[in-house]
Amino acid sequence: MKIDKKPRLNVDICGINFKNPIIAASGTVGFCGDYRQLIDFSKIGGVSLKGLTLEKRKGNDGIRIAETHCGIINSVGLQNPGLQDFEKNYLPKLKGLDTVLIANIAGNVEEDYLNIAKRLDNCQDIDMLEINISCPNVKSGGIAFGIYPNTIKQIVGRIKKNYSKPIMVKLSPNVSSITDNALAAQDGGADCLSLINTVHGLAVDIKTRQIVCKGGLSGKAIKPIGLRMVYEVCKVTNLPVVGIGGISNYVDVVEYIMCGAKAVQVGTANFLEPNTMIDIVNDLQSYMVDNNIEDIEQIRGILL
Ligand SMILES: Cc1cc2nc3c(=O)[nH]c(=O)nc-3n(C[C@H](O)[C@H](O)[C@H](O)COP(=O)(O)O)c2cc1C
Repeated sequence: MKIDKKPRLNVDICGINFKNPIIAASGTVGFCGDYRQLIDFSKIGGVSLKGLTLEKRKGNDGIRIAETHCGIINSVGLQNPGLQDFEKNYLPKLKGLDTVLIANIAGNVEEDYLNIAKRLDNCQDIDMLEINISCPNVKSGGIAFGIYPNTIKQIVGRIKKNYSKPIMVKLSPNVSSITDNALAAQDGGADCLSLINTVHGLAVDIKTRQIVCKGGLSGKAIKPIGLRMVYEVCKVTNLPVVGIGGISNYVDVVEYIMCGAKAVQVGTANFLEPNTMIDIVNDLQSYMVDNNIEDIEQIRGILL
């Protein structure tokens, strides 16, 4: 029997209301900008903005994106205008965008994260932070902040002291234990978790005998990895978890939600079809009507 009222798609994450569980993944819609002509951001739950660093970054030289089977490898190198330019020239244009805005932050050293967090704490238009801990820590010989539980706990704890709104810690899949790292973020004071970031990958051209791109793999190829990690993490923590990795349609979203995710982020699929996120919202609604699900919470975590 089909339900006769509109299903409830909205979710509450750390006291913030998302009108539906679909969020644009960081780095795949920039700071919205030109994408506003292609995507109606008011129809999705939220947007995680492009990774922001204290100083401007010009990004990596060479080939930045290589297509692979069922995915892409990117080595963009966190190109972004830097905090000051963001505040002056990008933030004003985000005003009035009727969706939850998440600032995704990155840095070379711990102090970079703390300084950005402190500055953004005064920013009314940003609802929460997403902490990208997959960046190399230059003070530790380039080992990413997000590799070891003790460094995760420390950096999260310090950011927490400098930011009053919720913080979401984005976990790297390139680690020995995703659950240990999730628990470390929780111990540090994370309000919620997002996972996964890209998976280390390499593309080679045998004709030129060259490496085409050494970077992070994303897209459909990584969905089973993301799904498994979300499932494992949701088994050990009650923090809200935002599932990421290879999502391109409503079935993928339902799978992540059944494995415990409160919401999801859609990344690479936006490059293939900018309307993907809107299609997912509509299809998710139809799926719920057809399956007599009144509230998305009814199916969350049923596989745990
Ligand atoms: C071109 C590109 C740029 C990205 N930039 C960022 C970034 O700035 N910060 C971040 O945390 N993740 C970044 N990511 C990772 C995505 O947010 C997401 O975690 C990853 O792509 C997996 O999701 P997907 O398979 O849906 O793309 C980027 C991914 C791509 C493809």
